[in-house]
Amino acid sequence: MNQMKSLSNSILFLCIIFSVTITAQEAKYADLLQNIDSREKTSLNGKWDIIVDPLENGFYNHRLQEYDKGYFKNAKMQSPSDLVEYNFDTSLQLNVPGDWNTQMDKLYYYEGTLWYKKDFNYTATSNEESFLYFEAVNYEAIVYLNGEKLGKHVGGYTPFQFNVTDKLVEGNNFVVVKVDNKRKKENVPTVNQDWWNYGGITRSVHLINVPKTHIEDYSVQLEKGVTNKISGWVSVANAKDGDAVSVQIPELKKTVKATVKDGKASFVINAKPSLWSPDSPKLYEVVLETTTDKIIDQIGFRTVTTDGSKILINGKETFLKGISIHEEAAFKTGRVVSVEECKVLLNWAKELGCNFLRLAHYPHSEAMVKEAEKMGFLIWSEIPVYWTIQFENEDTYANAENQLTEMISRDKNRASVVLWSMANETPESEPRLAFIGNLAKKARQLDNTRLITAALDTQGTSDDGNLIEDPLGEVVDVIGINNYCGWYYADVDACSSIKWASAYNKPMIMSEIGGGALFGLHGDKNEIWTEEYQEALFKSNIEMMKNIDFMAGLSPWILMDFRSSRRPLRRIQDDFNRKGLISEQGMKKKAFFTLQEYYLDMDKK
Ligand code: GCU
Repeated sequence: MNQMKSLSNSILFLCIIFSVTITAQEAKYADLLQNIDSREKTSLNGKWDIIVDPLENGFYNHRLQEYDKGYFKNAKMQSPSDLVEYNFDTSLQLNVPGDWNTQMDKLYYYEGTLWYKKDFNYTATSNEESFLYFEAVNYEAIVYLNGEKLGKHVGGYTPFQFNVTDKLVEGNNFVVVKVDNKRKKENVPTVNQDWWNYGGITRSVHLINVPKTHIEDYSVQLEKGVTNKISGWVSVANAKDGDAVSVQIPELKKTVKATVKDGKASFVINAKPSLWSPDSPKLYEVVLETTTDKIIDQIGFRTVTTDGSKILINGKETFLKGISIHEEAAFKTGRVVSVEECKVLLNWAKELGCNFLRLAHYPHSEAMVKEAEKMGFLIWSEIPVYWTIQFENEDTYANAENQLTEMISRDKNRASVVLWSMANETPESEPRLAFIGNLAKKARQLDNTRLITAALDTQGTSDDGNLIEDPLGEVVDVIGINNYCGWYYADVDACSSIKWASAYNKPMIMSEIGGGALFGLHGDKNEIWTEEYQEALFKSNIEMMKNIDFMAGLSPWILMDFRSSRRPLRRIQDDFNRKGLISEQGMKKKAFFTLQEYYLDMDKK
């Protein structure tokens, strides 16, 4: 008996060590230069030469053999005889950043490969490194510099970079990018999505020059659970053990020195900063310095926690008065490509009375997150694990995890981001639970300070009305619920009396409610597509939500009408999802004022 006991004890002991090792395993962030705004960079934005290539002739020969594997080394598309047709010098041009669908009528529906080319000059400087940095390309990018393949990136909404230090030449260089936005079952998102598949180099491209020994990444945040200790780390490339790093917060009169060990310097600053909050979005200048490099960032310090069904910001219960937003530009439509276009959407959200934004269904631009932070918005940031993802496909999981890692790597210093969303409306199954459970574990390894969430479907109804019991509720910190009472189910008038119950003692955010209306279409409130119908739907759903005592916030669907291939109804939708409270031409519908009144009344209490 003793022998058995000691054997089981040792197995248990080994399991504990193994699990501790796994937990303690340092999470690896993406290889991304943190805070490129603070870096010396050359913009490669502007006109790029393009070649539309639906048959991918520029990538495969007629035997479907990849030119990259030696059949075609020179990506200038001009040398091999059978590619004489592919001449960038006489080709059309597109603006970068920008989707191709709204730049050329004949590319409106285009899903396939399109080649981009840009010439640029480079003057070498000694003792520096250079990176080609793409803020986003939808969906797959294969990048060549001066005819040499640098690599591939998959995922349409997160940044990626290539170290091109040894590949640039003095004077003229050229970069070629093969962009392919074809939807595929194994992709993230998969083939079915309720937003337009805008393809292209949709965010800015930079050539970033940094000192050879440079600050590559860092984290500067309040230590979890306290408001009097700032801790973090700075990773320095090409540094030697013992190299000095200083972290200064001048306004707090704090400077700490740290030393590099194995490429990273950790630090703690004892300080009691004024806390960032929606009412007071205080940002501090933080200066990170080594003997060769200096980075300045604007960082806010706050805590975000839950207590039962409440969400606490800096220990204070905070109701999230939100709205969902797609990255669709007002007026011109298409992908948002500028800070000005971000501000149009953010100012409308501020006018609506919001303190919270659900940036759906994919990571929005860094500019959007930083502008929202300055304006005091709390942010729900999400990866496009949307609907019927291939949950049993390992490559699909790796893709999703990579996009999650890139999202967290880029925005880990942003006080505005309080929720990382793993998914949206995914059908319940064991593989889905495992897939999203692993994503949540990864997110917590990378960042144990923010809350994990996911938007779930409205589930089965019980005698108590709608019951929240999705097993994913066990995994997340905050449960998102998408509920279309009065649109996809039930009569509008019935919504106000629907009761809700939850199997979990956790905060719920009503992450979507809503219905479609064409701006300017007026009629009886029972007539679908009228502004009056949408207004009545919001009134009835607001009455319902007032009675959900475990609801900690909401982000109704959606701030502005947005383009979607699922919405062709001529004369009403015309390729736009009309659930916006504002039309894509900036016209506010009646329901905008209904939601605004709900938020303003809340502030009076
Ligand atoms: C879903 C989905 C959204 C979609 C919306 C709609 O809940 O999350 O992406 O646009 O419903 O049907 O309009």
